[in-house]
Amino acid sequence: MKKNELLRDKLAEAQLGGGQKRIDKQHQKGKLTARERITYLLDAGSFEEIGALVTHRTTDFDMQDQVFLGDGVVTGYGAIDGRLVYVFAQDFTVFGGSLSETHAEKICKVMDMAVKVGAPLIGLNDSGGARIQEGVRSLGGYADIFYRNVQASGLIPQLSAIMGPCAGGAVYSPAMTDFTLMVEHTSYMFVTGPNVVKTVTNEVVTSEELGGAATHSTKSGVAHLTAANDVLCLQQLRDVLSYLPQNCEELPAPLPYTLGDELRDELETIVPSNASQPYDMREVIGGIVDAESFLEIHPNYAENIVVGFARLAGRSIGIVANQPYSLAGVLDVESSRKAARFTRTCDCFNVPLLVLVDVPGFLPGTDQEWNGIITNGAKLLYALSEATVPRVTVITRKAYGGAYDVMNSKHIGADFNFAWPSAEIAVMGAKGASEIIFKREIAAASDPAAKLTEKEQDYADTFANPYRAAERGFIDEVIYPRETRRKLIRAFASLEHKVAVLPKKKHGNIPL
Ligand code: HXC
Repeated sequence: MKKNELLRDKLAEAQLGGGQKRIDKQHQKGKLTARERITYLLDAGSFEEIGALVTHRTTDFDMQDQVFLGDGVVTGYGAIDGRLVYVFAQDFTVFGGSLSETHAEKICKVMDMAVKVGAPLIGLNDSGGARIQEGVRSLGGYADIFYRNVQASGLIPQLSAIMGPCAGGAVYSPAMTDFTLMVEHTSYMFVTGPNVVKTVTNEVVTSEELGGAATHSTKSGVAHLTAANDVLCLQQLRDVLSYLPQNCEELPAPLPYTLGDELRDELETIVPSNASQPYDMREVIGGIVDAESFLEIHPNYAENIVVGFARLAGRSIGIVANQPYSLAGVLDVESSRKAARFTRTCDCFNVPLLVLVDVPGFLPGTDQEWNGIITNGAKLLYALSEATVPRVTVITRKAYGGAYDVMNSKHIGADFNFAWPSAEIAVMGAKGASEIIFKREIAAASDPAAKLTEKEQDYADTFANPYRAAERGFIDEVIYPRETRRKLIRAFASLEHKVAVLPKKKHGNIPL
């Protein structure tokens, strides 16, 4: 009996982390503790802890006198919607959640287990970085984690939530996972903090401005999603996971679906008859997918392209869609990178891709060229070309120039290509095209402006439609907008057992 009491006492001590005072401090900051976060993340009562009694081994700086059971990270496994997941949650109440050699070993252990059994890994980050008292042993621990992040990449979903500080090289573990979520106002990520920035560049900036959730979800794109508090962030992790399978060898689990809502009249009136008038592509998405099923990723970053998960007849799909509402839906450096990354995430985890096209082309200008629109645009072209998941395209309006090719054209391996009657598939818009090919005729005309208008109309009549592409078979079907949902449900169902045979090679060389 005494032996059981000893165990009970030790486990009770582990529950308290760095002690009640520090737990209170954590709460005063509006943050939950590591254990509370795990409770909100996982299905009730499902958590099994591993390594609650682990302690650090450091004796430098009298560290043997400061030992906390668990050593600043809570690790284990549990369930989300009944599905197995592995999890680690850094405990800020123990040395500020800083990473020691043993803290890293605990994280590596759950990473290894997750890979071994093919289950997602979720990391809840809240840490002052490398445990300063441990020096290079701590840095080595980080590298052990980074290495495992890469080995696990594409095998199992890896999700990170930033729920406190995440600074220095520590940011690279979340950065190499599939999704990074941040809590607004209580989390930040940066490679060097405000003090170093001031010393090196003389810039004065706050932690929030430099690396808060608002910054990373709008300016850098590092954060895929943000949430107002810990509880909402943990719910977002559950939501994201619901669209993904356990590992790369499985399909995402479908939800039950009852036939009957396939025809959607509202889709007939979304695209304005005036081709230069914008509209919100999210309305088109809403008209196609299952009710309330769209989860937009990166909603406030590179808004000229929309990406996110949704369900179609209960099955998980990934959507990449030009957004005419923002910069007319043009492709630029950031939108290309955003869409390429999302495409690859879907492809890794067998999430079929729906690409909705209304794109006037690539954004011109020195800013774009000097920032590598060539390499960055190539990322999206490459990512879509190499994707082997079922791929279906719907052109709602413009598909101009190189962007026609890039946006999941038949030529780069799309399985089904549909177009609405409003589609315009051409090398460029009617005005630009007419000015080039009828240059002499327009110059020689008694009224050049009237001649240009006449030629523009001619060009538009000839090319600003989907029928030239349909004649060639580049478009499989021109469809009524109201039938889009039904067509897509059937197309994706027919592709469910698509088999892609890949040539044997080490790996491709995506332009980075
Ligand atoms: C050891 C640490 C620690 C660390 C915090 N603590 N960071 N202990 N190593 N890195 C301890 C504090 O001593 C304190 O202990 C407790 O955690 C809480 O810290 P506070 O400073 O009181 O909290 P707060 O005011 O909220 O500030 C949090 C903080 C600050 C902004 C994170 O603590 C801080 O700046 N820490 C140092 C961050 C840092 O420079 N880390 C190294 C980065 S380099 P008590 O006993 O009082 O509770 C790095 C390289 C990684 O990480 C490389 C990977 C390749």
